[in-house]
Amino acid sequence: MVSGGVVVVTTPSFGSFSDEPWETAAGEGIDLRRSRVPGPLSPTQLRDELADAVGVIVGVDRLDRATIEAASNLRVIGKHGVGVDNIDLAAAAERGIPVVWTPGANSSAVADMAMALLLAGSRQLVAADASLRRGEWEVFSGMALEGASVGVVGFGNIGQAVARRLAGFDADVVAYDPFQPGEAFAALGTRRATLAHLIEQSDIITLHLPFTPEDGPLLGAAEFAAARRGVGIVNTARGGLIDDIALAAALTSGQVGFAALDAFAAEPLAADSPLRAAPRTILTPHAAAFTELANARAGNAVVRDVARVLRGEAPLDPVTFSR
Ligand SMILES: NC(=O)c1ccc[n+]([C@@H]2O[C@H](COP(=O)([O-])OP(=O)(O)OC[C@H]3O[C@@H](n4cnc5c(N)ncnc54)[C@H](O)[C@@H]3O)[C@@H](O)[C@H]2O)c1
Repeated sequence: MVSGGVVVVTTPSFGSFSDEPWETAAGEGIDLRRSRVPGPLSPTQLRDELADAVGVIVGVDRLDRATIEAASNLRVIGKHGVGVDNIDLAAAAERGIPVVWTPGANSSAVADMAMALLLAGSRQLVAADASLRRGEWEVFSGMALEGASVGVVGFGNIGQAVARRLAGFDADVVAYDPFQPGEAFAALGTRRATLAHLIEQSDIITLHLPFTPEDGPLLGAAEFAAARRGVGIVNTARGGLIDDIALAAALTSGQVGFAALDAFAAEPLAADSPLRAAPRTILTPHAAAFTELANARAGNAVVRDVARVLRGEAPLDPVTFSR
């Protein structure tokens, strides 16, 4: 065994739609085991699971400072996917524990889901289906994507994949991402905008940026008020990017035309979340990355990089941490 100890997998989605990642782990000589409790785990559950582990592969479980400091044998942290807001990167860096992730592995799956949500929201598909099943034959009108202004916030792997898909629908794509070079926008014929302009100009806003807990929500009451009346909101990124209470109020008033959400500030979504009762809302259980292809890619990539670190090699996809 290359690992010299157990690598614990906490995310139930790892290798669940494809056996490939388990075979890859065996081929790499990794002693890989699922956590006794299926994730997402609480910090206390994680502490128990990681008591002897040399590595961990997490999903959205909160790997906080105390947990990282308590895991005395831990030599590598793998993120199954992208979005490391649940991992205390500073604590890992201080202990010299590399964090690896799988950039790009699930981009097309998430971009497909963003399009599915965007289309379902703009054409009221879920409400139309429910209406028909109640025995009605009601007319549901919707928003045309042709010529619609769609604002993409975060223009990385997924944001760009969504922009490519939107171009095929003849939408007018505008994007905000202060960290991407101008060529990235030009290459896809996407107009670059400030966040304020994007919010004011868009018929639909779709989020594809990381969540930084210290920054708080990107879209709240002020942003919804500044947006076009009837704006559609799509979120396949992170729930914390949106103020749920403000969104529910804006849906109720009609200021927001629809919301189609795959990610929530607290998951699973609370039974009393105002989003459950809000009108014109489509909710999916953080499922955007769940395709067989993406599952195999992300699982294989994280296992290979975990193995590299445990062998003492440099990882291919380290998460860089800067204070
Ligand atoms: N729902 C799901 O299952 C699922 C799956 C994968 C990823 N995600 C989320 O989607 C996000 C994007 O994933 P990706 O693969 O495209 O990541 P990525 O790193 O390729 O792209 C993120 C982009 O956001 C930009 N960005 C960072 N801070 C920003 C800010 N304040 N304003 C605007 N742009 C900003 C970055 O410059 C980068 O270009 C992830 O961070 C993750 O939270 C969700």
